[in-house]
Amino acid sequence: MRNCARRSRARWPLSSLTLSTFGGEDIAAMDDRHRVFFVNALTGFKPASLVGTRGPDGQDNLAVFSSVVHIGANPPLLGLVSRPSSVRRHTLENITATGAYTVNHVHSGIVAAAHQTSARYNEGVSEFDAVGLSPEYSERLKAPYVAESRLRIGLEHRQTVDIELNGTHLVIGEIVEVQVDEGAVAEDGWIDLGALDSVTVGGLDAYYQARRLARFSYAKPDRPLRELD
Ligand SMILES: Cc1cc2nc3c(=O)[nH]c(=O)nc-3n(C[C@H](O)[C@H](O)[C@H](O)COP(=O)(O)O)c2cc1C
Repeated sequence: MRNCARRSRARWPLSSLTLSTFGGEDIAAMDDRHRVFFVNALTGFKPASLVGTRGPDGQDNLAVFSSVVHIGANPPLLGLVSRPSSVRRHTLENITATGAYTVNHVHSGIVAAAHQTSARYNEGVSEFDAVGLSPEYSERLKAPYVAESRLRIGLEHRQTVDIELNGTHLVIGEIVEVQVDEGAVAEDGWIDLGALDSVTVGGLDAYYQARRLARFSYAKPDRPLRELD
């Protein structure tokens, strides 16, 4: 695809940067795998989450997702995007059937196991057993947490928005429980994701460790920023 890219020199402040430009037609002309890698990287770093569910038959399921997104804080809502239902999607099916699921942060110690959950295991196989992670249950929720995770969120399903453009589904849930390593929560509620070693995803198959650059005070037009600890 490299040949399709038009190169141009960007002006200030990127004077030394040589840009490759890809038009919509270049993206459309990419072969499928190439386009998947390319487009998946464009949103930048994404959270690495393990989504835990249990089927109506009691079978636990675990899958890695990078599309978990904040929808709102009051009520506390998270969204995730499930791929088109062209094949069976156990996570989506279980959430729809039971209304319960968990979102568990991935840290560097479990990154390979987390990635392995994306493999298409046969029905009847628990990804927990297959990849060597441990399910942990809470009174409040009919879905398993990942015991090895340092930040776990329990959710109840509230709404699914079917996206007609490409057949994907935006699944929205309300947070009903949070379990987090206690040292990571600051007095003002901020959670130090770096202390938890929560990792991020680039594209579809690359994982990164994050390093905090700064934490700033609330920005106002008439007040200089302060750096917070
Ligand atoms: C890094 C990574 C991120 C992923 N993110 C998503 C996602 O946001 N949505 C999705 O539907 N599948 C995503 N997948 C694919 C699922 O993990 C994969 O389809 C898995 O088999 C789904 O399992 P299930 O059928 O048990 O739900 C991702 C895979 C990887 C490796």
